[in-house]
Amino acid sequence: MSTARVRLGVLVSGGGSNLQALLDACAREDFPAEVACVVSNVPTAYALERARAAGVPAVVVDHKAHASKAAFEAAMLEALGAAGVQWVCLAGFMRLLSADFLGRFAGRVLNIHPSLLPSFPGLHAQRQALERGVKVAGCTVHFVDAGTDTGPIIGQAAVPVLPEDDEKSLSARILVEEHRLYPLAVRLAVTGQVTLDGVRTRVAAAPTMGELALRSPGATK
Ligand code: GRF
Repeated sequence: MSTARVRLGVLVSGGGSNLQALLDACAREDFPAEVACVVSNVPTAYALERARAAGVPAVVVDHKAHASKAAFEAAMLEALGAAGVQWVCLAGFMRLLSADFLGRFAGRVLNIHPSLLPSFPGLHAQRQALERGVKVAGCTVHFVDAGTDTGPIIGQAAVPVLPEDDEKSLSARILVEEHRLYPLAVRLAVTGQVTLDGVRTRVAAAPTMGELALRSPGATK
């Protein structure tokens, strides 16, 4: 007998490659969640096409069409509620959510961010990393709180920054890992393997690590 799958609402604003990674994961029989609804605040977001192609209800809630943030969030809550959403995943969603909204899904809102938080929160994380000259970059899945990328960290994946990198090449390398990490973190979170402990989380899963740690640079020529 199969157990009921957790119903995810995915909030998007753009291309939706992370949404696609979640849709692909949810298409696997053993994945413990399904995407019940996709909500975009941008009417032209390609992510909406991805949702429709996967047969998932795709709803536009345009922040510009609402008189206030409260009205915008109320409309999103209505869409999520109508779809029976239990957990919310932000996937390239470019609006900050209020504490009121988050309280409606307390401890059940996740985000992916393209840096090794707490370094480089906010916009243009990859550009910030390049400008600061770090040699290792990556991505983070975390619980969402009312701050900007400040919530408890669930998981991270690291990639090297290469000498010839620009924002585009570094973003692409990080994005590959985002697509691996987000489904993994969602699986752990919705199956109760992630416990909140103040500003930290306890995660009942081991890291994957090669024989050596990622070291950047790794060796002289
Ligand atoms: C990703 O890098 C994500 O981490 C960030 O915005 C980008 C969205 O990409 N929040 P996509 O829309 O999932 O392709």
